[in-house]
Amino acid sequence: MLKEVTVTRYITPLREGGSLPGLVEADDRGTYVIKFTGAGQGRKTLVAEVVAGELARRLGFRVPRLLTLDLDPDLGLGEPDERVQGLLRSSGGTNLGMGFLSGALGFDPLAFPVSPEEAGRIVWFDALVNNVDRSWRNPNLLWWQREVWLIDHGATMIWQHNWPGAEKSADRPYDASDHVLKPFAPDLATAAAELAPRVTEDLLAEVTAEIPDAWLADEPGFDTPDELRRAYARPLLLRAAAVRERITGIEGDK
Ligand SMILES: Nc1ncnc2c1ncn2[C@@H]1O[C@H](COP(=O)(O)OP(=O)(O)O)[C@@H](O)[C@H]1O
Ligand SMILES: [Mg+2]
Repeated sequence: MLKEVTVTRYITPLREGGSLPGLVEADDRGTYVIKFTGAGQGRKTLVAEVVAGELARRLGFRVPRLLTLDLDPDLGLGEPDERVQGLLRSSGGTNLGMGFLSGALGFDPLAFPVSPEEAGRIVWFDALVNNVDRSWRNPNLLWWQREVWLIDHGATMIWQHNWPGAEKSADRPYDASDHVLKPFAPDLATAAAELAPRVTEDLLAEVTAEIPDAWLADEPGFDTPDELRRAYARPLLLRAAAVRERITGIEGDK
């Protein structure tokens, strides 16, 4: 289970984000990025953050720490910005928290070096979780302490919005032609050989166990949170073995 803390103070919005994530302080005195359950696509976005983020972490990528932030919606009462106030008031209960990488820079492909090995691993992972949000326009990578960190996995695994077609979507190609790391000659063969065998049923059970029950309750067609956890694991398990063959748009590959 992810660590649970309670929000004590809303600090400020992180303006760049489309979903208006904010910065908060919690009762453990930590400062965290908050992603609101009342924003955009709601809790499914947060489930995607947890599944993709915790899977990435276990595959050896750098991902900020994830935890849950319990929020009292009355915290919004004194907030002057109406959009923020609306978000706070509609996000009572369990929200996603993320370790704040203070002083991190947005990734700039012209300024920061990435090896073909690392580029290959990240492109392979993004193909596995169908991440459409790692383009040069919107990299969702941070540069912190001279390393690349992965953030913003809310738009991954779109198949979770259509469960009957989820396993079939595991066969879909992944077009990497807009990927921010395409210019770094991603070494997909090495990445696939290393990572695919590590995406096992056991690993995915561990990852999906991290999803808070509160975001899994009352999903139509599922009787229990654990049944839904297995539905998240299955397409990833099927896709892992074959995903390298599904990646298109990388010149000189294959
Ligand atoms: N853990 C973090 N540490 C530091 N900055 C962050 C962190 N998470 C997000 N940010 C900043 O906030 C911006 C928006 O966050 P992101 O997760 O991409 O949200 P959105 O879904 O709205 O795009 C990022 O581009 C980055 O500048
Ligand atoms: Mg983003």
